[in-house]
Amino acid sequence: MRTLISNGIVVNADGSCRADVLVEGETIVAVGLAEAATPAQQPLQVLAPGAVDRVIDARGRLVIPGGIDPHTHMELPVAGTVSRDTFETGTRAAAFGGTTTIIDFAGQTRGRPLREGLETWMARAEGRCAIDYGFHMMVNDVSDATLAEMDTFVAEGITTFKLFTAYPGVQLSDDGAILRAMLRTADNGGLILMHAENGVAIDVLANANAEAGRTDPWYHGLSRQPGLEAECVHRVIRLAEAAEVPVYIVHLSSRDALEEVVRGRQRGAQVIAETCPQYLALSIDDLGNGFEGAKFVCSPPLRPRDHQEALWQGLANDDLQVVGTDHCPFDFAGQKDLGRGDFRKIPNGLPGVEERLDLLFQGVVQGHLSVERWVEICSTAAARIFGLGDTKGVIAPGYDADIVIYDPGRRHVLSAATHHMAVDYSCYEGREVQGGSDVVLSRGQIIVEDGKYLGRPGAGHFRPRQATGARLP
Ligand code: URP
Ligand code: ZN
Ligand code: ZN
Repeated sequence: MRTLISNGIVVNADGSCRADVLVEGETIVAVGLAEAATPAQQPLQVLAPGAVDRVIDARGRLVIPGGIDPHTHMELPVAGTVSRDTFETGTRAAAFGGTTTIIDFAGQTRGRPLREGLETWMARAEGRCAIDYGFHMMVNDVSDATLAEMDTFVAEGITTFKLFTAYPGVQLSDDGAILRAMLRTADNGGLILMHAENGVAIDVLANANAEAGRTDPWYHGLSRQPGLEAECVHRVIRLAEAAEVPVYIVHLSSRDALEEVVRGRQRGAQVIAETCPQYLALSIDDLGNGFEGAKFVCSPPLRPRDHQEALWQGLANDDLQVVGTDHCPFDFAGQKDLGRGDFRKIPNGLPGVEERLDLLFQGVVQGHLSVERWVEICSTAAARIFGLGDTKGVIAPGYDADIVIYDPGRRHVLSAATHHMAVDYSCYEGREVQGGSDVVLSRGQIIVEDGKYLGRPGAGHFRPRQATGARLP
């Protein structure tokens, strides 16, 4: 099967040009310039009539590498319930939003082998995903046994491990454990991902608020202060410097934490950081309005609006490298309301896997980002950092034909009534955005077109990833 995507503007992280893209089977085989934009470039590659089976006219639209969301939680057990999107519904929703690869998080039960957790998550995803996927491994206790398992995992393509300074007694690792895991990655080439919030201090504040009767979702935000995120970001960067390895900060939410990343990078620390659309497009104000605020409870929490400018700036100047969604959806009715009367019992997490590209494209519309930088933070950087850089994140011959034809002018309204995520509300209900994914190809197959899903569960494959720890950032 040969598909020609003609007349579009091909946007890669390193530049854009008018070009046709030829796909054969699952792979991009040629990118021919429609016009030679510079003398160094080759003119249009002429294809004989009938040489292709299908032509997609992308005139007036952008042709971009499919989005890579390196931070999702499908079917994640949290606080006695389970995040609503399955691998089937969540990857289908991702596809509608122009994302063609996710990296989800497999979980370890404390005291049990990592392998057991990985097998559980593999079984949940196998045969169900609409798009390609991989796994990070969450390590809840660092021991000689789990450290040895990490080596095996790296060899098998699960090359990244999330540790926590939050959630004491459940997921928190102390400094010694974090340093041991980091030192292990110095040998095996893996990469440590850190949830960096001071969970011990946060629990003191959260308990004090709840015991004083301050039980609304608003107090979730007030208890998890930006300084307690910044302190841990600083600490884990220092630990990574001691181990002489890179470290990746997940879901960075605040200006305070970003300042620590900037300071670390200025010292020469190998720190990479991810933020999420919700920290750019929502604020702590959304946590108000009584229990409605439960819809916006996630950790780290939403911050005062004036943090947003710093995060956009950080994305523009490469202090922040990646945007992942931390997609972890819970219905308002029946799940979020488990915490009515006690914000500590609200399952943490927001839906968002479908909206990432569009929300970030508002950064292009508003002048925060170039269109190339948008592609980089939504796709190319994650491919490079997470060991998919030889196959994904670029429109060029030899790469997977994970391609989105994106209309930069189409306006549409975000709403639970029209989204495809299996959750009963939208964090962005009624918000109009400019830009939308029109056609989505996953390894050469059209899986979304004209608002219709043409994919199938199981078409997405598990993709082992290369170890990149030794060559970052
Ligand atoms: O509130 C959040 N972020 N829930 C998902 C789990 C995590 O810590 O990433
Ligand atoms: Zn986390
Ligand atoms: Zn997460």
